[in-house]
Amino acid sequence: MEHQEYIIERYERAWIFFGLAMITVFIILVGYLMLTMGNTNPVGAGRIDATKVRIEGDFANPRVEQVGNEYVAYVQAFAFGYLPAEMRFKVGRKVTFYITSPDVQHSFHVHNTNINVQVIPGEIAKVSYTFTRPGEYPIICNEYCGIGHANMINKLIVEP
Ligand code: CUA
Repeated sequence: MEHQEYIIERYERAWIFFGLAMITVFIILVGYLMLTMGNTNPVGAGRIDATKVRIEGDFANPRVEQVGNEYVAYVQAFAFGYLPAEMRFKVGRKVTFYITSPDVQHSFHVHNTNINVQVIPGEIAKVSYTFTRPGEYPIICNEYCGIGHANMINKLIVEP
């Protein structure tokens, strides 16, 4: 009887150890992926009154700002298009996009990158990216948003 209990305890310990080992491996893997892929996971950067997006604050003036060697872009995804109408960046410089919607849910997907952000009215999405190749990058909406969804396209330009 005592012998049996001893064995069970040993198995339990082995499983606990296995569980902890898996968690550790998972954390290391996620950290590694974030470092190597560049962190393009969109994060919530705050909330905003969707009815005021067009009237006040940063998004009422959609634009690209140069801050030192980097860019900050304030983007409106609306039915049916994106503002600013034109975005230009120099290659190799980090771009941080802040994106929101004044109407319904959209997305901000930049072709040939892993930028693919859900844009929810009332929330500000933030995503950073460094373009490594010059060219034109189409921007499209992956979220069905109404009659003009298929035409909700734009592009950004990365200059050498
Ligand atoms: Cu916006 Cu589909």
